[in-house]
Amino acid sequence: METEKIIDESVQGEALLMPSKIPNGKKLFLESYGCQMNFSDSEIVASILIDKGFTTTQNFEEADVIFVNTCAIRDNAENRVRQRLQDYKRVKRHNPDAVIGVLGCMAERLKSQFLEEEKLVDLVVGPDAYRDLPNLIEQAESGQKAINVILSKEETYADIAPLRLDKNGVSAFVSIMRGCDNMCSFCVVPFTRGRERSRDPESILKECRDAFEAGYREVTLLGQNVDSYLYSGGGLKKEKLTEEQKLASVNFAQLLDKVALVNPDLRVRFSTSHPKDMTDDVLEVMAKHENICNNIHLPVQSGSSKVLEMMNRGYTREWYLDRIAAIRHIIPGCGISTDIITGFCGETDEDQQLTLSLMQEVGYDFAFMFAYSERPKTLAERKYKDDVPEPVKMKRLQEVVALQRQLSEAATKKQVGYVHKVLIEGFSKKSEDMLMGRNSQNSVVVFPKLHYKKGDYVNVMVSSCTSSTLIGEVV
Ligand code: 5AD
Ligand code: SF4
Repeated sequence: METEKIIDESVQGEALLMPSKIPNGKKLFLESYGCQMNFSDSEIVASILIDKGFTTTQNFEEADVIFVNTCAIRDNAENRVRQRLQDYKRVKRHNPDAVIGVLGCMAERLKSQFLEEEKLVDLVVGPDAYRDLPNLIEQAESGQKAINVILSKEETYADIAPLRLDKNGVSAFVSIMRGCDNMCSFCVVPFTRGRERSRDPESILKECRDAFEAGYREVTLLGQNVDSYLYSGGGLKKEKLTEEQKLASVNFAQLLDKVALVNPDLRVRFSTSHPKDMTDDVLEVMAKHENICNNIHLPVQSGSSKVLEMMNRGYTREWYLDRIAAIRHIIPGCGISTDIITGFCGETDEDQQLTLSLMQEVGYDFAFMFAYSERPKTLAERKYKDDVPEPVKMKRLQEVVALQRQLSEAATKKQVGYVHKVLIEGFSKKSEDMLMGRNSQNSVVVFPKLHYKKGDYVNVMVSSCTSSTLIGEVV
């Protein structure tokens, strides 16, 4: 089951292939780990370098520039990258001038280790410094160590058209904001990605229109906390805005409304919502537009108000359940998914029971589940003892995973017997006679191909299911 892969680590690696504009004779290999935001950033990186004439390769052995876009959210992600860098280093034997670089969230923390102590890489670049990559590559090629991990208060890459690296050509990620100001005590993101800033809505709308023109039929608006999106033009922080400026600015509900109007055939999704900031306004905009998908990813992290307080999440169990009630009321049938951490500092068996009972009460369709991994610099690392023994963290994780498996199966079964509007993404994994797509709730639906093709919308009568896939026929 998909959830089982995720317990271990939600990281996926991917090599990419795309055409170049004006070839400079150099080949780029780019591998991405971590969240959707990182994959979206890789599309910015690719765009910047293709513009400089790079071509790409899926084989790092033949690359002149090898980049790995990294994730620092949990410890095991870091270990994996370290291993990968050892593989990449082999390239230097036949191509001593090759440039090996680390991009993204690990850059700031591990810069000196990677560059100097272990001599694993030639270049280290943080998530706000990608415009500087062409210069830094040149610097590295001339034998100097190239580094830029400066975090910006303004950078949103608003004017850079991402080079779409996804394989299906149907769904595109559109980054709407960067960074995070929340300071959840377990989370390293505010340190690796810096302060929160929102992107100009006009550039977001243009990107969505361009995606539609290019054949895409779904956009996912991305941000660490999309509900706190606020664009005021002057780059001012929310707290600093006058009432007048606030009225003139664009919030997330308004942005969502505008994106939904780009085209009724362009589906809109978004991620990630934060329970403390998710307003009824957003839910009402979702209910108003048929093309905004009925699916909300609302990370709860824990079902215990005591643990939530220590996590600095800014809400209680009751507040969270009230938000769920609002979703159920305003958008009946909405798919709901979540993130859960087991074994956070001070978590008792009682707290664990509260997490399990909350999961049951909500009946999540899907969940990403993790054992707590202490991260350097975070509030939790400074304030609390990582006192839940590893085997207990793992046992609790297994309990959460087992319960979620039942909940996901029940949620899948509940969708059988109805007609679902499906956006086709491509062939099913098992057969080229079958197509796969997703319904509004984000469940995978599989059905016979007939004359349909990816990018089409079809109505599928679902007649059966496996644990996580709906099976049916176009009606
Ligand atoms: N340990 C375990 N899981 C974490 N997450 C974030 N930081 C940590 C950590 N230190 C999880 C949270 C978050 C998701 C993206 O990753 O559940 O919502
Ligand atoms: Fe991390 Fe919390 Fe920000 Fe999410 S909202 S990125 S968990 S600090």
